[in-house]
Amino acid sequence: MAALPAPPTLPRVRVLATGGTIAGAHTDGSRSYQAAAFSIDTLIRAVPQLATLARLEVEQVAALGSQDMNEAVWLKLAARAQAALAEPDVAAVVITHGTDTMEETGYFLNLTVPSDKPIVLVGAMRPATEISADGPMNLYNAVAVAAHPGARGRGVLVVANDEIHFAREVAKTNTTQVGTFKATHRGLAGLVHAGRLHLYAPPVRRHTTASEFSLAGVTALPRVDIVYAHAGMGRELIDAAVRAGAKGLVIAGVGDGNLNAVALAAAAAAARAGVAVVRSSRTGGGVVERNLEVDDDALGFIAADELNPQKARVLLMLGLTRTSDPRGLQEMFFTY
Ligand code: SIN
Repeated sequence: MAALPAPPTLPRVRVLATGGTIAGAHTDGSRSYQAAAFSIDTLIRAVPQLATLARLEVEQVAALGSQDMNEAVWLKLAARAQAALAEPDVAAVVITHGTDTMEETGYFLNLTVPSDKPIVLVGAMRPATEISADGPMNLYNAVAVAAHPGARGRGVLVVANDEIHFAREVAKTNTTQVGTFKATHRGLAGLVHAGRLHLYAPPVRRHTTASEFSLAGVTALPRVDIVYAHAGMGRELIDAAVRAGAKGLVIAGVGDGNLNAVALAAAAAAARAGVAVVRSSRTGGGVVERNLEVDDDALGFIAADELNPQKARVLLMLGLTRTSDPRGLQEMFFTY
């Protein structure tokens, strides 16, 4: 772990690097690029102004495009974040990460790292070698947020494009634009402009220190698959997930988490066989409510409430480490 020079009165902030486009470099003169090409030391040295915000220490936890993020890296990242924050003199953790699955990693950490010190995820939509790369300012803003005492107790945050998001609320909504991150339901955690913070209301759902989930002794997470619903859907993918050993299934349902009759029958059979079935929605917004068009009580289903399918998968994996009872799992979806 390298310490980078800064005045000793500034807060200590640990940067855990995982790769992503923020560390990306063009491979030749064309548009194509490779994520995770630059080390975290190189990214930090490219923003000397960071030395005015915090005493940074860096650790390269992984070097991947976040399409390759997985549960094993989540467990490692959670452990490294927890270890850093347990040090009395470390004020916060910043995690550099690809934007593709940042919302899932952020929500996972929001539920599993028992600390009220800030944890801030940051990425970029443009590689570091791109014209007008967004990474350097995003990183500067992320460190400014992490080093600010007002960021404590707000759960895991995501910083990009001058916005501060709650990990639970944020979703990537655009393939290429720098304003990709949106929080459809409960809005922004705040704004950050050139390191100056404007913090809004704290989050309402339980997180970090108030979370019941613990990774102590957890070496793997239960398999949970996502099945995407569509017009003319068959039952084959649901049946295949169950045969492959899924302990949980998240349906990215149409509308209010709906399925056609064929797929509904397959999902009901899965639930009868003990697989936890969560109805989420592919719409990108809104609440999936219980017992409207689908009789969740009779079929033993769980409604995802506000969580999109990929976040519902995170909560279901963690929920299944504690119970497989659909009523208990449903309560978690109303709590987190
Ligand atoms: C990735 O998620 O690693 C690639 C895309 C990005 O970081 O913007």
